[in-house]
Amino acid sequence: MAFRTAFDCLWCGTAHVVGSPDDLEGYAQLCPACVGRAGENGFLRFRLKAALAERSAGAPGTSAPADGVPPVEDLSGEMKAYYAARAPEYDDWYLRTGRYSRGPVHDLAWTADLDSATLWLDGLPIQGEIVELAAGTGWWSALLAGKGVLSLYDANELPLDRARDRLLAHGLRAHIHVRDAWAEPDRAVDALYCGFWLSHVPRARLTEFLELARRWLKPGGLFAFIDSRPDPHSGAVDQEVSAEVEVAPRRLADGREFRVVKVYWQPAELEAALRAAGFSRAEVTTTSRFFLLGSATA
Ligand SMILES: C[S@@+](CC[C@H](N)C(=O)[O-])C[C@H]1O[C@@H](n2cnc3c(N)ncnc32)[C@H](O)[C@@H]1O
Repeated sequence: MAFRTAFDCLWCGTAHVVGSPDDLEGYAQLCPACVGRAGENGFLRFRLKAALAERSAGAPGTSAPADGVPPVEDLSGEMKAYYAARAPEYDDWYLRTGRYSRGPVHDLAWTADLDSATLWLDGLPIQGEIVELAAGTGWWSALLAGKGVLSLYDANELPLDRARDRLLAHGLRAHIHVRDAWAEPDRAVDALYCGFWLSHVPRARLTEFLELARRWLKPGGLFAFIDSRPDPHSGAVDQEVSAEVEVAPRRLADGREFRVVKVYWQPAELEAALRAAGFSRAEVTTTSRFFLLGSATA
């Protein structure tokens, strides 16, 4: 079993969050009380033995430590499930409706930043064949589809259905397919765009993803992205924002809870990582509160 930082105990169902990335409970997926009484129960004994073996072999399903960064559980399945379930309410985040309404001052600031980000993206020299990865409900796809031949991909069908409706409403066309953002490129294109995806790339895999992004592009092709800054009012009312941790809880309107990778990158570290991945003219700036705006040339 993969190491988990937060889980319901497999035996008694008690919710538990581990204290460190090496806790035996996380491998066994048992709460401390059940680990403590493993001597009395065959199932608990079996789980504990397996957990000890997994811990000494290195955590299956975790990424390798890189540059002193602690290993992070592979949350890709949980992230996909979260965004599939969130598809009907995803645009509330952009529109500041429902749980995402944070009062007139913060909502106004959000809308102003969203306008700045839109104008920034619209002003980039994006043309020709364009690929958008992890496109979700297609908030940015309508803008991109007006600039060239757009292929938009996401791991989930449900948000893509919304993207399709959005493009149709604008009388725009695009190639829309389910495709994992980590899948190897099948061609080289003129421009690659990712909205709010880099923050879902674990720190230990940033170089891997940026190298993949570069392989999507023809020489001279443009990589552009918009992402999150850790403003406390950027998410839903019940969402805490922390730049310190890499895994964050996310709730849906119906109370269901998931975990996602959420890394709040600093502009300078992204610029350095883009250059290290072979990009030139790497430039990452910010809007006043909420967004990172990045571009680089392959
Ligand atoms: C934060 S949303 C961003 C959506 C959109 N790009 C935007 O800017 O509004 C992240 C998206 O990534 C998708 N996703 C999650 N894991 C993925 C993966 N491994 N490959 C491709 N898409 C993935 C989710 O379905 C979701 O639509």
